[in-house]
Amino acid sequence: MGKLDGKVAIVTGGARGVGLGHARLLAYEGAAVVVNDLGGEWDGSGHDDRPAQQAVDEIVAAGGRASANYDDVADADGAQRLVDQAVDEHGRLDILVCNAGILRDRMAFNMTDDEWDAVIRVHLRGHFLPVRRAAAYWRQQMKSTGAPPGGRLVLTSSEAGLYGNAGQINYAAAKAGIASMALVLARELERYGVTANAVCPRARTRLTENTFGAFEVKAGEFDVWDADNVAPWVVYLCTEEGGHISGQCFVVGGGSVELVQMPTVVSSIQKDDRWEIGELAGAAKQLFGDRPTRPAAFPVGDGLPLGG
Ligand SMILES: NC(=O)c1ccc[n+]([C@@H]2O[C@H](COP(=O)([O-])OP(=O)(O)OC[C@H]3O[C@@H](n4cnc5c(N)ncnc54)[C@H](O)[C@@H]3O)[C@@H](O)[C@H]2O)c1
Repeated sequence: MGKLDGKVAIVTGGARGVGLGHARLLAYEGAAVVVNDLGGEWDGSGHDDRPAQQAVDEIVAAGGRASANYDDVADADGAQRLVDQAVDEHGRLDILVCNAGILRDRMAFNMTDDEWDAVIRVHLRGHFLPVRRAAAYWRQQMKSTGAPPGGRLVLTSSEAGLYGNAGQINYAAAKAGIASMALVLARELERYGVTANAVCPRARTRLTENTFGAFEVKAGEFDVWDADNVAPWVVYLCTEEGGHISGQCFVVGGGSVELVQMPTVVSSIQKDDRWEIGELAGAAKQLFGDRPTRPAAFPVGDGLPLGG
């Protein structure tokens, strides 16, 4: 008896890396899974149906239920076909894991307009379009049955977005936006029994290997960079027991799950009139106290994968 028996899930970008781990574990727990993947290169170029089909073949061979979808998640018709496919082939939709992503890294002064647009498109639009269609489906379910349908949204953010990684202004902006989308969706969809959370994976995949090079794996030891390590927390959020958690953001990798504190005011200065510039040097000292006035170092050390 699986924790997700009878449920239907979509995983975008589910044919490789972190997404493949999600698809496998959702299916193992009993969900029918639509594995979406465009099958492109790590920078978003190209298209290949084989990776999604291979993932589906693997899940089915292991006794699970799955079907393949090859659409671009950032395409309006493609996103609609994806949600329709889950409902048409498997009868319903309960879980949407938005995971598809690409990289086009460059410092801001060198980044082309096209590199900016491509990354913003796949991540932000590629999250929004399927989410909007899933949310509309759940709202319609509530209208026709009168009961909150429930539903689970897991979005994929990144520490690059939370902490601002140099060389990734396009990707960081998109990923920060995705963390914010989870908060908005948690509020908007609460009445439908739908939860929305964001995860920031830490894993060895082609995205992080392209950015950071090969990862060391010690024989006989727990492989903390295995991409399949991210799935248990994601699948837990999709279960009944995980349904009390919404609007949260987590860093997940190896055997670790970190709860990230979402923006909160840490100090303030206040006067009952507009500030004069001459007053602000002293006021700024008061505002910061002992706090640093520059960004802190990245939360993990040199060479660790935050880029993907
Ligand atoms: N690996 C990490 O440590 C890490 C860190 C932070 C965030 N992430 C995020 O996790 C997610 C998965 O990344 P990964 O590391 O597994 O990379 P990956 O390249 O192995 O997998 C991403 C998958 O998304 C698919 N894809 C890309 N654009 C698509 C589109 N428009 N429509 C449908 N499918 C598309 C690709 O074909 C690929 O199979 C991404 O959103 C990434 O930004 C990963």
